[in-house]
Amino acid sequence: MKILLTGSAGFIGFHTAAHLLERGDTVIGFDNFNQYYDPKLKDARNEILEGYDNFQVIRGDLKNVDELKKAFDLLGGGDDTRVCHLAAQAGVRHSIENPDEFVQDNIQGTNNILELCKEYGVGGLTYASSSSVYGDNTESPFREDHKTDNPLSLYGMTKKCNELQAYTYYKLHNVKSTGLRFFTVYGPYGRPDMALFLFANWIMNDKPLNIFGEGKMQRDFTYVEDIVSGIVAALDKNYDYEVFNLGGGKTEELMDYVTTLEKALGKEGERNFMPMQPGDVVSTSADISKAQKMLEYDPKTHISEGIPKFVEWYKEYYGV
Ligand SMILES: NC(=O)c1ccc[n+]([C@@H]2O[C@H](COP(=O)([O-])OP(=O)(O)OC[C@H]3O[C@@H](n4cnc5c(N)ncnc54)[C@H](O)[C@@H]3O)[C@@H](O)[C@H]2O)c1
Repeated sequence: MKILLTGSAGFIGFHTAAHLLERGDTVIGFDNFNQYYDPKLKDARNEILEGYDNFQVIRGDLKNVDELKKAFDLLGGGDDTRVCHLAAQAGVRHSIENPDEFVQDNIQGTNNILELCKEYGVGGLTYASSSSVYGDNTESPFREDHKTDNPLSLYGMTKKCNELQAYTYYKLHNVKSTGLRFFTVYGPYGRPDMALFLFANWIMNDKPLNIFGEGKMQRDFTYVEDIVSGIVAALDKNYDYEVFNLGGGKTEELMDYVTTLEKALGKEGERNFMPMQPGDVVSTSADISKAQKMLEYDPKTHISEGIPKFVEWYKEYYGV
């Protein structure tokens, strides 16, 4: 297949692109290499991808249709073409202070993608949604048919909006799409703004760990290779219009996540318990039975195995 993959220099995009390239697909990456977190990490991921003959990258912005068209011109259209749309402004907390960025990048940007999928006759679209769409849903574990009308963050709102945009483009223009609600993804080459990375930095620099929600939060942590297997299955199955949860299949206490990290790093950190942050939810738990059935999704990596893999990479990358 030929795949246009947005967010190729990002955490999940990089791992997905590497998997697709390894199995022989042609990948056109698209990313604006923005400065939301250390761009050196994005360059490092991109450098690895550029080592593959079947990869090329367009540096451009989702908001700029002309730049996007350069990538779609390379992709073309037809049954064996896909768009894997993972570029977005992420981060629940960042969205509270920068609402415009999120509306422009995530809502306008995704509309540009959908419009071009229609124009070029692309075979199918797989895009990143998020567990944040569940907002203040109190039914647990979260299931795809639960109500998602009450997101608690601007970020979650934009992801819910993406699902609605995709639905409309399917109904109006027959653009096939699969939305994937990711649950807290972690692993090597991860995102420096996310908890695991922050905790690792604080521990290694002898700084206290800011633990929000007084340490009582729970998350369905998902190892990146498991997420990639779900994304690739969605690209291959290419359903008409579906939304799936992709979680780790087990809900963990945040403090178990912290102690597993400390064990892997061989060092403990001082704990600074803090109240819940606005926009955050106490617990996320994914019902993954729909993905198990329709995508043959089978997450295999428990945090006791995944966190040491992250630490191994972290130590090597930062020369710790
Ligand atoms: N990591 C998680 O736990 C998680 C959870 C739920 C959903 N998601 C979603 O998965 C996707 C990938 O997340 P990630 O963790 O890899 O994030 P990331 O920030 O590492 O990757 C996103 C990439 O998109 C690029 N980008 C952002 N805005 C752009 C724009 N306007 N034009 C072009 N490129 C742009 C960034 O430069 C970055 O490289 C995102 O859509 C995110 O919202 C991630």
